[in-house]
Order: sequence, then structure tokens, then C-alpha cells
Amino acid sequence: MTDYDPELFSALVPMFHEELLTALSAHLSDYRYQHCLRVEKQAMRIAQEIGADVTRAGIAGLLHDYAKERTDEAFRVMITAQHLDAELLNYGNAIWHGVVGRYFVEQELGIHDAAILQAIGRHTVGDPHMTTLDKIVFVADYVEPGRHFPGVEAAREALANSLDQAVAVELQQTISHLVERHVKIYPTTFATYNELGTN
Ligand SMILES: [Fe+2]
Ligand SMILES: [Fe+2]
Repeated sequence: MTDYDPELFSALVPMFHEELLTALSAHLSDYRYQHCLRVEKQAMRIAQEIGADVTRAGIAGLLHDYAKERTDEAFRVMITAQHLDAELLNYGNAIWHGVVGRYFVEQELGIHDAAILQAIGRHTVGDPHMTTLDKIVFVADYVEPGRHFPGVEAAREALANSLDQAVAVELQQTISHLVERHVKIYPTTFATYNELGTN
């Protein structure tokens, strides 16, 4: 059973795990809250398997969608308040809830760990220089057991080989999916695909 390192957890999060769950559930539909619980476990499992930081993986996995159900207006206000790239205003929730959502996690939950916040920030768009923790959250979100889209098995099989292979498959499938739907693609996602999704 994969579990948190209690000392590290309390150094990173200014509340007990149960209080964190309460804070998370207060901002999410039950459907999405359950997804977050599965991503927490999935991220911890991956971290355990590859000898990465299980505690940070669990916290980042649990909180990755913390801001997903905020209004567009709340995100716009945060983009301005944090002086983020104004180009972000041309995108929407699908991008914002990670790139901008990390600031809600920091301000409202009092979590200041740079690695955790970065992994949350990068889960929607990736980054050409993703760390192992970034990749764990990115992939855990995509393959958690509640996911049933076409291609999820290919990603799970890739993960059985390596985390990097799973990242590559996820990027390939995500880019294809967005192009098929004629959706605008955030430039960082292209840069990530070029760096980590090609061979
Ligand atoms: Fe998300
Ligand atoms: Fe998610």
C-alpha cells in the first residue's frame, strides 16, 4: 500500500489530509472530486513504481483539478492579478485550470511547494522540460481507472513500459484529438510534443 510520508506531508500542507479533502470537495462536483481521488492514488502508484516522491505526487495529483470549476471571470481576474502572459486570455478553462489554477491552490490552501505547484500548473499544457513529478501528474490524470476514452489502453500499455513512453503517447493522442476537433492549441503544448512526443 502506497502511502504518504506523514512528516513530509505536514511540511508541505498546512492541514491534515482529511481537511484537504474537505477543502477540495467544497469546490468540486462529486464527479470531479472522485476523479481527483483516483488521480491521487494513480500518481502515488506511479511514483512508488519508479522511486519518485510519493508524497508530492499524491498531493499534486489530488489537487490538480482544484480550480477546474471556477468561473471564467475568476480566472481572468487571477491572470491579471498575477501578471501572467496576456496571451492566456485567448484560451479558456481547459488551459486555465492548470496554468492559472495553481495560484488558487497556493493562495487558498497555503501550499507553496514549487514542485507541486509546477506539476499542477503543467498538467493542462505540459512543458518541454517537464520534471518527473510533472510527468507523473500529467500521465496519472490521463490513465486513472475512471478514464474510458479510445486510446486510454494504449497510454496504459505505454506506462507499463515507461513514464516517458506514456507521456509521448498522451501528447500524440491529445494533439491529434484537438486537431480533429479544430480546437486552438496552446503553443506550450506544441513545444512539449516536439520535445517529448516524437521519436
Ligand atoms: Fe485537469
Ligand atoms: Fe483531471
